[in-house]
This record gives sequence, C-alpha cells and structure tokens, in this order.
Amino acid sequence: MLLITIESSCDETAAAVIRDDGEILSEVVASQAKLHAEYGGVVPELASRAHMERILPVIDQAVKRANIKLTDLDAVAVTNCPGLAGSLLVGVVAAKTLAMTLGIPLISINHLQAHVYACRIAAGRDVFPCVGLIVSGGHTSLYQCAHPLEFELLGATIDDAAGEAFDKVAAMLQLPYPGGPNIQREAEKGNPKAFHFPRTFKNDPENMNFSFSGLKTAVRYQLVGEGKQSFDDLQISGQLRADIAASFQEAVVDVLAVKARQALKKTGMKNLCVGGGVAANAVLRERLERDAKRFGYHFFTAPLRLCTDNAVMGAIAWERFRAGEFEDLDLNFEAGVVRASQPKR
Ligand code: KG4
Ligand code: ZN
Repeated sequence: MLLITIESSCDETAAAVIRDDGEILSEVVASQAKLHAEYGGVVPELASRAHMERILPVIDQAVKRANIKLTDLDAVAVTNCPGLAGSLLVGVVAAKTLAMTLGIPLISINHLQAHVYACRIAAGRDVFPCVGLIVSGGHTSLYQCAHPLEFELLGATIDDAAGEAFDKVAAMLQLPYPGGPNIQREAEKGNPKAFHFPRTFKNDPENMNFSFSGLKTAVRYQLVGEGKQSFDDLQISGQLRADIAASFQEAVVDVLAVKARQALKKTGMKNLCVGGGVAANAVLRERLERDAKRFGYHFFTAPLRLCTDNAVMGAIAWERFRAGEFEDLDLNFEAGVVRASQPKR
C-alpha cells in the first residue's frame, strides 16, 4: 500500500511517497530559506504564497519520482498542526482535495510528533517510550512519549525557541539567515568559554521549561554595551564574532542537554529522541552522545535532512492508519501548539 505525505507547516513545501513497510519511494523538499533570508526570519505571508505556488509541483514530483500514478495511492496524510496558519492551510487543502478526488482516506499529522518519529525512522527500530526533545525555529519543548501518537508535554520555552535565538543572535553578529548553521561554522573558530552567558532554568530540575530571551539580551549587551539599542555601524572583529558564537552555542547546548537529562530522570525513561532543525547542530549532537554514555541513556536523532522540516517523517501517518484514525473532509488546521495527542474532530 502507498501513502503520500504532505508537509507545509512553516517554510518548507514537502511531499513523500512511503510504502506501508516504511520504504521511502520518493521525497521532495522545496526550501524557502532564500526567500526569507533578507528578512532574517520567516515572513508568514510570503511563506503561504510560496507554498501556494509550489504545493502541486512538489506533489507531482513526489509521485513521478516514486514511479507511480496518483491513482496508485491508498492514503494521503498532511501536517495540520502546529505551524503558521497560512502555511498549514495550503497543505491541508491540497491533501483534502486529493482524498476527495481519489476517494482515499485522509490522515492528519502532528508536526511535533513527526519530528520525534524521524528518530524512529532513522533508528530503524522502536524508540518508544522516550523523552522527545523538539528544538526548531518555532519550538523548544520536552515531551513524554509513551507511543508515537501519545504525547504529554513536560515543558516548553516561555519566550524564544532555541532556533529563533540562533537566528536572532546570528543577525546581531551580522551572519546570514538561517542562523544555526552559520553560528555553528563561526563557532568552530571561537572559544566557547570566552563568555559565560546565562543558562536559564538549568539548575531547576523541577521546572522543565526553557527561556532564551535573557541569553539573547546578554549577547546584545556584550556587543553594544548595556542599555544601548543600536547596531548601526557596529564593527565586530572576527575573533569577537567567533568567541560570541561559540559561547552562545555552548550556553544553548548546555541548557538543552541538562534539561533533557532532568526530563529522563523525572520520567524514568531511558531513551532520548531529539528532532527539529537545531538537532542538526554538531556540538549538541556530540554533547548528547557523550552524556548518553556518561549517564546511561540512549540518544536517538536523525540525519540532517530528517531533522529539518521534511515529509518523510510523515511516515508516522502509517501508525494512525493502522490505528484506524482517519479524518473527515472537514479537517481543519490548528496553528498553536497542541498539547494533547492530536486534535479530534
Ligand atoms: O525544524 P526547522 O527546519 O523548522 C522549524 O520548524 O522551525 O528548524 C529551523 C531552525 C532554524 O532556526 C535554524 O537556524 C535552526 O533550525 N538550525 C540550526 C542548525 N541548522 C538549522 N540551529 C543550530 N545549529 C544548526 N546546525
Ligand atoms: Zn519543524
């Protein structure tokens, strides 16, 4: 049996064709990174317009690359939460149209569950129950995941997401968007101990939340001086940029690793699954690998292409298919973070 998955929750338009044994027949991702680069972050209006243009060509390519016909599809799945409203809407309408015209079942995908499921796909074996850490441009949250479709929120950021902090600090350091990979590259030349930036909630094991706004402000003060707002004509020396990038990255990685360990301890779980764009960070991956050995847990993540937004992680829809969880044609989207397992309509 064949499933097509559609992902358009943020700034990637993606589709994949996946067989019921998990085999990926095709995967297509059209990234909008270039489109948003000059604004230093995703502009929702531009994102939805770009999805509009690309959604059908992306679906068409996924079908062609899989060497199948649309009529060979047995089910269609789409991300309907959480994400940008105008972006989600485009994917959901496309999926509903396919379901209706082809007369095949419609399945909804929770994007955060899918990010954790990417670790299951990469591992090629069961990783549940686990603690799921999702770190992306829009989210930084810890979940207790008893099952691929059963999520309980342990904590989340109370202000910026980790990826957002990477993007904003990159802009302060005059590095291009997306900030994460550029900060990582710059940090290789810097000293992670040059500055000790704040690590909010690190020493508070009962509190599973995150906060990155104080860290962002500390970087700003380091650059322009306390109380000053303007970055105009700021001259940043190469070494200062590298040292700030390395020290900032170190602070984010340290908080994420320690909070993940606290969540494992609190829930008694032995598996940690990390997904989302920031999971692509090499220093974070090394730290979690080291911690896993040292503290006796299993660390799972996914290859870079499955950490950032993609449709392959939509393979989670087969779990819903097997559980008989289908949607009606009046399926809606849910822009905000959904705390329960999945919105039921
Ligand atoms: O999951 P994703 O592709 O999209 C969202 O759902 O947000 O994540 C994008 C975020 C961006 O903020 C980007 O700066 C960050 O992931 N990112 C990284 C790295 N690669 C991407 N952050 C740190 N290190 C990286 N290597
Ligand atoms: Zn994402």
